[in-house]
Amino acid sequence: MALIGILFLIFTATCVGAQGDFATLECNPESFGKHGQKSLLECVVKTQEKDLEIKMVSLKKEGMENATLFFYKGILPSQTDYMFAEPSWNSKNMNVSLLITKTMVAQAGDYECEVLTNYGNYKETINLKVTAEYTEPTIRSVPEKMNQNRDGALICDSDGGYPKGEIHWIDEHGTDWTNSSEMKAEQGQNGLFHLSSKLTLLPRSIFSKYTCVVVNASGGREGGTGFEIQDQPRQDGQEGVGKSDSTSKIIAPVVVIGSLIVGLLMVLLYRRHRQNGHSTNNPNEEAEEKEDLRKKEFDASRV
Ligand SMILES: *[C@@H]1O[C@H](CO)[C@@H](O)[C@H](O)[C@H]1NC(C)=O
Ligand SMILES: *[C@@H]1O[C@H](CO)[C@@H](O)[C@H](O)[C@H]1NC(C)=O
Repeated sequence: MALIGILFLIFTATCVGAQGDFATLECNPESFGKHGQKSLLECVVKTQEKDLEIKMVSLKKEGMENATLFFYKGILPSQTDYMFAEPSWNSKNMNVSLLITKTMVAQAGDYECEVLTNYGNYKETINLKVTAEYTEPTIRSVPEKMNQNRDGALICDSDGGYPKGEIHWIDEHGTDWTNSSEMKAEQGQNGLFHLSSKLTLLPRSIFSKYTCVVVNASGGREGGTGFEIQDQPRQDGQEGVGKSDSTSKIIAPVVVIGSLIVGLLMVLLYRRHRQNGHSTNNPNEEAEEKEDLRKKEFDASRV
């Protein structure tokens, strides 16, 4: 608190010292903008002079050739990217805050705000910081069908963030595996970063769950997505189950058909045996009997 107070005193002292006694220009030295949204560069002229009139307001981005003029000799240019924050600003309005209507990463940086009045000229610097939130990360595995018994990799992607962030990898026990990963950050044309991290996994040291965490430039966690890895090789497992299934599928009919065949054979044998048992029906024996009878009759007729 004391430090802030001292800083504020120094800040006010430099403003007053450098810019004369009739008025001061007070700007918020740090401005925070979000990509794609409005940003306010706040500056106010502080004065006791009732007849102070603003002649010109300009904003110049550091490193840019030309200043963006907002007001000059009573003419208000129609601005789209930058405009006065006060809706119907006029030269008597001491609030010269500027609004960036749609903040871009490229607009981040130091700005010099210059105000010319009938009492003197004033200049202040504003630093605009732009941030953009990373998208919720997505994870995919290579190969697509991953299990804990083979090597592979997890790839985590997150897009559209600024400034450059990091991707961390945490397992289900909270152990950080970021050192085993490799991250690439690519900056798109809009200045936003695409983060892509590859975590290499070795068999027998693979955990069942990994979380990819996006950490922004100030170390804050922006998002996280988990990925679960099958502990049993899923496809092999299915094959294993499939094998035992198919063996039982084969064995069962074999047993059924086998016992049916055995049963049938037994029935056949039994019937065969019974047929053999009724030997009287044997045609040969009948013939022999008949032969015997005929012989007896013959013998009788002879007698
Ligand atoms: C200046 O105007 C803007 C927009 O109306 C407002 O948000 C801001 O608070 C004003 N600043 C001061 C110091 O009045
Ligand atoms: C980082 O994330 C934290 C927590 O979500 C947030 O408060 C902070 O503003 C973020 N910082 C940047 C630079 O995006």
